[in-house]
Amino acid sequence: MAELKRNTPMRNLIGLVSGAGTDMDTLNNNTALLEHQASMYQAMLAEQQAVIRETQAVVREREAAVREREAVVREREAIIDSLRAGQARSSLIAPPPAAEADLPAYITALLPQLEGWCTPRKALWLADLVSNMSGGRIGEIGVYGGRSLIPMALAARNRPDAMVYAVEPWRNSVAVEQATSPENDQWWREVDLDKIKLGFLTALVDCGLTSLVKIIELPSDEARGAFHAMRDYRFDLLHVDGSHAPGQALADVKNWLPLVAPGGILVLDDIGWETVASARDHLRATCDIISEISEESDICYGAYRTRATPQPPSHAWENRLSEVLA
Ligand SMILES: C[S@@+](CC[C@H](N)C(=O)[O-])C[C@H]1O[C@@H](n2cnc3c(N)ncnc32)[C@H](O)[C@@H]1O
Repeated sequence: MAELKRNTPMRNLIGLVSGAGTDMDTLNNNTALLEHQASMYQAMLAEQQAVIRETQAVVREREAAVREREAVVREREAIIDSLRAGQARSSLIAPPPAAEADLPAYITALLPQLEGWCTPRKALWLADLVSNMSGGRIGEIGVYGGRSLIPMALAARNRPDAMVYAVEPWRNSVAVEQATSPENDQWWREVDLDKIKLGFLTALVDCGLTSLVKIIELPSDEARGAFHAMRDYRFDLLHVDGSHAPGQALADVKNWLPLVAPGGILVLDDIGWETVASARDHLRATCDIISEISEESDICYGAYRTRATPQPPSHAWENRLSEVLA
């Protein structure tokens, strides 16, 4: 028995199982010892499992950080690619022709290289309006990639009084400040306006228009305030193609119409859109219609001549400006 007590619990257990003689106390002691050891091993196991879980959480965290960094790298690679594409594309833009007679063919070939919606027919129509008007002061609200502004600037480039103001913020938040439609707003939330602006600036350089075109990188309401300082400034032709949200389209027409010279032209884009209808109706009521053109699908635009009597001053933009500046 004394020998059995000196034995290890495991040996005792082996003894038990193999049928060696023992007493109840020893058996109980050994069982308790074994249970104690088992619970110790279980505690150690639970501890190890907790360590493993913690390590796994750290690994998952690091994997997420790596994925985030990979996304940043991909984004930067895309920017580099788009810059390269811009450079590659810009090298394809040939300098404009010296002869005015060659301008329509040049504009037609140039248009697919510019981002935007202006169709070849509208671009040539705008260029024609510019070539035939008496003054050379041109403005555009809503430039995007310059697809309508560049043809107008090209048509004006040889006039001694030519000056083209480009009002465009290139900011997604401004483009969706007022709702137009869910699909439209979603598109404008996501479009890369930095890339569009880069394409426009590159095209301006390639077309030799940098000294003619003055960029006002502001929303139209704020840009309108800048023109307030130039009290006597009047446009001979103003193309309104900014926000198509009902409130902003009407505000642009009402606020900027007084800046068009008597007998000058205001061109409004997308006059068939329901959201632009009130802006179009304001022009129909206050100006003479030069032409309203419908191309296929929903492409339509109109040109309106301001009447000789000066437009009543509009103070709506001043209120809007003070809201913006508040
Ligand atoms: C339809 S795109 C202009 C397209 C261009 N004129 C063409 O023919 O390709 C409308 C532009 O208006 C700009 N825009 C939106 N809200 C504006 C605002 N409040 N003031 C000035 N521009 C705005 C947008 O950033 C966008 O580039």
